[in-house]
Amino acid sequence: MSLRDFIEQARQAGYLVEIHREVNPHLELARVAAALDGRPVLFHRVTAPHPTPPSWHTTGEGATRVLVGAGSAREYYALTCGVSAEKLLPTLANALEHPRPPEMVESGACQQVVESDVDPSTSLRVGLGRLPILTHLPTDHAPYITAGVAIIRDPDYGRNVSFHRLMVTGPRTVVARIVEGRGTDTAWRKAQDGLPVAICVGNSLPVLLAASMSPPKGVDELGIANAMQPTPLVQCKTVDLQVPAESEFVLEGHITHQLADEGPFLDLTETMDFVRRQPVIEVDCITHRRDAIYQALLPGKLEHKLLMGMPKEPTIFAAVSQVCECRDVVITPGGTSWLHAVVSIVKRGPEDGRRAIEAAFAGHGSLKHVVIVDDDINLYDPVQVEWAIATRFQADRDLVVLADQPGSSLDPSATHVPGQKTRTAKMGLDATILWGANRKEYEKMRYEKVDAREYLNTGQSLDQ
Ligand SMILES: Cc1cc2nc3c(=O)[nH]c(=O)nc-3n(C[C@H](O)[C@H](O)[C@H](O)COP(=O)(O)O)c2cc1C
Repeated sequence: MSLRDFIEQARQAGYLVEIHREVNPHLELARVAAALDGRPVLFHRVTAPHPTPPSWHTTGEGATRVLVGAGSAREYYALTCGVSAEKLLPTLANALEHPRPPEMVESGACQQVVESDVDPSTSLRVGLGRLPILTHLPTDHAPYITAGVAIIRDPDYGRNVSFHRLMVTGPRTVVARIVEGRGTDTAWRKAQDGLPVAICVGNSLPVLLAASMSPPKGVDELGIANAMQPTPLVQCKTVDLQVPAESEFVLEGHITHQLADEGPFLDLTETMDFVRRQPVIEVDCITHRRDAIYQALLPGKLEHKLLMGMPKEPTIFAAVSQVCECRDVVITPGGTSWLHAVVSIVKRGPEDGRRAIEAAFAGHGSLKHVVIVDDDINLYDPVQVEWAIATRFQADRDLVVLADQPGSSLDPSATHVPGQKTRTAKMGLDATILWGANRKEYEKMRYEKVDAREYLNTGQSLDQ
């Protein structure tokens, strides 16, 4: 399964938007993609020169096609996995629980072209400057790679696969945002001479989803991707790492111990993330497909939100299922697709709501607010969830507040101290029907459905 297979599937299904007009990767492309948020958009001619080019930036020589928004709706993941949108959560949960080791292949499309001459001393027309890397907003410090999946090896836990946004600072250097305490960070701290890394750009949705997951240490995320769709791997050219053979681009290099300012940059919460001192990555070799397609995702938009939030739904589901009967979980877009969840349960005892709140927080460490509802509430409809809070919840009885908890580094209202874990308050609302109450009094009464058009005068229409 490759990104190209997805493009073809999306085209056939009528989801794909194709733009043939020339578009500039500096600010313009992101604006167009933002206006089409929720659709996969293939830009065919991203050839315009960068208006304020660093001397090495020669966009137009390398990739000219850019795909944005591949993962911007649940239907697209379902399409890729060959299941209905309702079956997506069990499919993810199953892949997470039963990873399948990927097959190794001798040669991969991602290595059709090998460019090891990324040293600017050899030529200016090489390296990262050839890629149509987007500048999204005037406030971006530099162009950023946003859909890069970094593969590293930890000496104790093996392969780790995760997203790291990469700020481009030269033809062979990027500064990576590496969240402290996670897989890449812990491996990098152990590697005194720098950590070999392979960054894949232009990936299938299963690879993107797997990179967003945080399975237990030692579980191979590429095995999770492979359990969703076959994901063969190929050996890298200059580092001892294996990458999905179908990727569009692979940047091979090292995460050095040199630090540089990273940011400012827009993050998931649609607010500006802080500037931090972060590791510099040196790129030694770029391999890519002939006619490679560059992939980007818009920070703060639907694809970013779904990729962050959706993989947490199965982990919350698993945690809540240990304490009561969990029906469904949704991480809601209004809560930045990271900080808020709604969980539906089948209540079988007085404490199930409270237990579900505690378990949900355990299942997703960055969760800040959670609402527990009965299984007659449609989780995907915020009006129904609010209705459950309005009619089934009493704050002095059903509210759980936890002070001074470890929280998300993304929440601007939390307490952030450099070098320390963010602290936050958490809140759980048990909006399930009170145990022992007469359920009939809490159920929504519905009018019987009729076709109102039958009651209209001839010639009258309901169309506006
Ligand atoms: C679109 C997207 C962008 C992300 N950007 C970053 C990032 O810049 N830095 C980072 O450390 N984590 C980032 N993450 C989060 C990690 O990929 C994710 O938490 C991963 O599961 C961490 O895995 P690990 O705990 O196994 O290292 C991003 C996730 C997504 C979905």
